[in-house]
Amino acid sequence: MADEAFVTLATNDNYAKGAMVLGKSLANHNTTRKLVVLIGPQVSDPSRSVLKGIYDEVRVVDVLDSGDTAHLAMMKRPDLGITFTKLHCWTLTHYSKCVFMDADTLVLSNIDELFDREELSAAPDPGWPDCFNSGVFVFRPSMETYEKLLQYSTEHGSFDGGDQGVLNGFFSNWATADISKHLPFIYNLSSIAIYTYLPAFKQYGGNAKVVHFLGETKPWSYTFDPSSRQLRGGGGVQEAPHSSFLLEWWSLYSSTVVPMLHEHYGDQPFHSGCVEFQLSDMVTFDSAQEERLASHAAAAPPLSSEERKERWEQGQADYMGMDSFENIQRKLDAFLK
Ligand SMILES: *[C@@H]1O[C@H](CO)[C@@H](O)[C@H](O)[C@H]1NC(C)=O
Ligand SMILES: *[C@@H]1O[C@H](CO)[C@@H](O)[C@H](O)[C@H]1NC(C)=O
Repeated sequence: MADEAFVTLATNDNYAKGAMVLGKSLANHNTTRKLVVLIGPQVSDPSRSVLKGIYDEVRVVDVLDSGDTAHLAMMKRPDLGITFTKLHCWTLTHYSKCVFMDADTLVLSNIDELFDREELSAAPDPGWPDCFNSGVFVFRPSMETYEKLLQYSTEHGSFDGGDQGVLNGFFSNWATADISKHLPFIYNLSSIAIYTYLPAFKQYGGNAKVVHFLGETKPWSYTFDPSSRQLRGGGGVQEAPHSSFLLEWWSLYSSTVVPMLHEHYGDQPFHSGCVEFQLSDMVTFDSAQEERLASHAAAAPPLSSEERKERWEQGQADYMGMDSFENIQRKLDAFLK
């Protein structure tokens, strides 16, 4: 198991925030596997330091600088830059098996059982029936596969312009060859899917293990309105299930990542995510959720700050009381001055 790892990719400081929360969520659910993050050259030094505090291995991938086949591939297909960076995960040959997860995913429970699967296992993409989504997949690092993937990309390009197209083209028998390589829907509970396919959420949502925040508005681009306890930012009104996962992302971010960012950034600003506010961008929490949170708060006796921190880390924040957004926001504001 020491030679198995979860791997993610952060190409800039915003995705690095996603990677920090993802890494924390994996660790909080007691994974026994190593944590590896591939980063692009643009990721700043303070962000790298924070990532080093969370991940076992932080590896800089600079395709333009690599002087190998990847560089050549890049010269031929500059449009596939980020894809080549992601394909780099196959070079992690000091691990025998890995699970790749996009930095905009969040783990809701232990998912180490994914390592029982073989390359290439992934969840189907409901939008493209015979395709897998490349946000979460099981693979075996191998220089041979890596070289073949690069060759495939330069020769065939990508039918969707990104890594999903390349990987589906290369592992083209995924849909038909071996059903054990089809991960259940619970590994791909995307927030968009929840919004668009609410019946599917009702059926599977309770067992969700991974949330994938697809779309242009990422968790780190929202901000909270302290007076109304509402999320701001994003494109359009969201359904409640979406906001409860966003809430989960934010509770982990503000409780465990923000203090680390603060430590490494000092007085420099790091919270770039304040999107301009519009009324149509409001996310409101449904009344059932409010009730659940309220009863949780009422039942809980006052906690010491040690106990509170512990609960936070276990994902049991006291949203209505000590850890309410007013307080989180006040803390954030203090950090940001
Ligand atoms: C992780 O392990 C700790 C220490 O053994 C335990 O207290 C905690 O409940 C575990 N967390 C989860 C989510 O299983
Ligand atoms: C999950 O499903 C959505 C559509 O509902 C799809 O767009 C997305 O790519 C899928 N993600 C993963 C990780 O399979």
